[in-house]
Amino acid sequence: MRIAISTGGGDAPGLNAVIRAATLAAIHRGWEVLGVRRGYYGLLGEDEVVTLNADTVRGIAHLGGTILRTTNRGNPFRWPVPQPDGSVLEIDRSDELIESARQMGIEAVVTIGGDGSMHLARKLHDKGMRIVGVPKTIDNDVPGTASTFGHDTAVSTALDAIDKLHTTAESHDRVIVTEVMGRHAGFIALHAGLAGTADVILIPEIPYDIERVCDKIRERDRAGRHFSIVVAAEGAFPRGGSPHFVETAAAGVAARLGGVGEAVAHAIEARTGKETRSLVLGHLQRGGQPTGYDRLLATRFGGAAVAAVAAGKWGHMVALRPPHIVAVPIAEALAAPRRVELDHDVVQTARATGICFGD
Ligand code: F6P
Repeated sequence: MRIAISTGGGDAPGLNAVIRAATLAAIHRGWEVLGVRRGYYGLLGEDEVVTLNADTVRGIAHLGGTILRTTNRGNPFRWPVPQPDGSVLEIDRSDELIESARQMGIEAVVTIGGDGSMHLARKLHDKGMRIVGVPKTIDNDVPGTASTFGHDTAVSTALDAIDKLHTTAESHDRVIVTEVMGRHAGFIALHAGLAGTADVILIPEIPYDIERVCDKIRERDRAGRHFSIVVAAEGAFPRGGSPHFVETAAAGVAARLGGVGEAVAHAIEARTGKETRSLVLGHLQRGGQPTGYDRLLATRFGGAAVAAVAAGKWGHMVALRPPHIVAVPIAEALAAPRRVELDHDVVQTARATGICFGD
């Protein structure tokens, strides 16, 4: 058996641990393993396909990033081709991709990626590719799995920042707004905000009213708490408004979010008169060593993906259904998006401990 592994979409701490575990588990079965570099680029002649073995995956489990590189511009069904007049034409290269894998003797593909990559996997499976998915994202928004690796590391990074911001905010009687990642789902803001005892958490699932946010800050002031910590997911937006973008979508590239933290900080200062600062944690949350939780989950996913290939579970993705890792049909897993549930105990506990969601 010869399998190929690819990593697609934004990176997340733990990708290397999956690559290592899947490679070793496959070798253990006597299989050969190839690594497709930069999403599917390697299979489309735009990058390389390399051999993975015990030597090439040695000592990588604790490293952030991906030794195979990745891209969020590699949709083979909508491949962007720049035209002489400056426009971009999108072409379908999926048949070429499948033929290239066949010519290389690749009998199965393990694709590690977010919901975008899982949608691609489903489409490639529909075209006959023998493919198994491994869900990843720091945002924790891949449906069908209780959690994804990368999220715990991102939360730890955000938590570390929130802890540090607390002391400086308190010393200066300031409000500090921290913008964290979270495109459609506010899990990072919610988890880091609650663990970090933030005063306000803004998430895409709960459109905020800036007056409610300011009320909370004024209430704290009256109680002698002259500083406040606000954690905002990049995808948060005001009631009746829309998310903040720094770049619009282009061919093959999603619109880039950003700016909600600064906008909220300006509004708070203008309305309350309190000195307010903002910062964007950005890609800091995507880097660094995966935490023990993420490394373990990623390693389990890698082993389970090879077991799913051995069982012929094509079109399935591995998923955490505590206490087990299972394989679920990708189409079924992606049926509904994964978002913060407003009646979840994490949200209830945040409200019960005085955290304001701006509603
Ligand atoms: O999907 C994960 C994510 O971290 C989102 O929260 C964020 O909007 C996006 O990736 C940013 O990706 P990039 O800047 O790499 O295009």
